[in-house]
Amino acid sequence: MDIQEIIAKKRDGYKLTKEEINFFITKYVDGSIADYQAAALIMAIYINKIDEEEITNLTLAMANSGDVLDLSSIGTVVDKHSTGGVGDKVTLILAPLVASLGIPVAKMSGRGLGFTGGTIDKLESIPGYKTDIDIKEFINNVKEKNISLIGQTLNLAPADKKIYALRDSIACVENIGLIASSIMSKKIAAGADKIVLDVTCGSGAFMKNETDAIKLSEMMNKIGKLANKETVCIITNMDEPLGKAIGNILEVKEAIQALNGEMEDDVKDVVLELGSYMIKLAGKGENIEDNKKKILEKINNGEGLQKFEELVQNQGGDISYIKDIDKFEKAKYIEPVQSLNNGYVQKLNAEEIGKICMHLGAGRIKKEDSIDKSVGIVLNKKVGDVVNKGETLAFIHANSLEKLEEAKKKVLETYKIVDAKTEKNRSIIKIIKE
Ligand code: URA
Repeated sequence: MDIQEIIAKKRDGYKLTKEEINFFITKYVDGSIADYQAAALIMAIYINKIDEEEITNLTLAMANSGDVLDLSSIGTVVDKHSTGGVGDKVTLILAPLVASLGIPVAKMSGRGLGFTGGTIDKLESIPGYKTDIDIKEFINNVKEKNISLIGQTLNLAPADKKIYALRDSIACVENIGLIASSIMSKKIAAGADKIVLDVTCGSGAFMKNETDAIKLSEMMNKIGKLANKETVCIITNMDEPLGKAIGNILEVKEAIQALNGEMEDDVKDVVLELGSYMIKLAGKGENIEDNKKKILEKINNGEGLQKFEELVQNQGGDISYIKDIDKFEKAKYIEPVQSLNNGYVQKLNAEEIGKICMHLGAGRIKKEDSIDKSVGIVLNKKVGDVVNKGETLAFIHANSLEKLEEAKKKVLETYKIVDAKTEKNRSIIKIIKE
């Protein structure tokens, strides 16, 4: 078997066998297939597509390309993953709430790339928080406190790591089969028994429309079933940013406020829906509406926040920042963007807002870039809100005057304000289960 034959087969639109897919993954990870050959094959897959059987074989080959965690000593572990978005601080709020209900949360999260944020960058905004603890400490933390959130430092699905970076560099990310296999290979390798997926949909997500989001969800559910891991996909709105803060420290602060009971409606909808399915899959409550009440109770009695503090303390973080969010570093310039007209916010393109934040320094253009934790945007008006001329639409947090001015101009352009009354976006679009 050689890679040229495999590339030629896919280039000409034929289906790859399990052996061919395994050969590609093994040889790419061990370095005997070059990046340019892998890039050619990925591009051929992108253009000619792969069918369900190929996607399943690709997922399993990637999942088995490194370590596969055995978390059976912890009990039933329900994992949660989002396909990515702007202002998505759901894990920071949801994970401690679910853990406070006695459900173990052992989660590996990623860093932000491009206009989307990543939970690990946000957690590292808390002084001292270690995201690179080893597997033993990770499992011990979950056993002791029911929760650990770490980065992808372990050797899990290394094939996906290489292929994802390659896809990003050759404009081949937005492909349903490739996204489904990428996400599910990581989830299978991370050892979860059950999986709740937040499939974001809209301008700030990989899936721009509902039809594609449904296709991706159905595909991931099928892979989950084949891997014997019950999977539920929740399609959520990412047409505008989630919540009000975008940027690392700003989002951590919003998450802490949410755990203190001050939660934006759209964030609450997503947290309650995902959390209720996590409880259901963990076997701790069949009724989704009752499960939502259980989560709300953990917000109201402060146990969710307490669990977040335990998480931070256990991983070396300084909890005085959680107790007093004013201690967090602030950007040098914090300035409002004011509306030039009266009307209703009709659109607030999440991708554009994500890109503005990235240029402020909150995100990475390249993987090696460092990030500025204090910068970002805090939205004051969202879709459906009434706006008067001169009212604040958003606050820009910047560390350079030039970037501040550029961001102010762009944020103003991104807000579409119209005369006609507009409705708020619905947060939960659809639930896809087997
Ligand atoms: N998130 C992933 O982990 N992989 C993709 O391909 C897209 C989003």
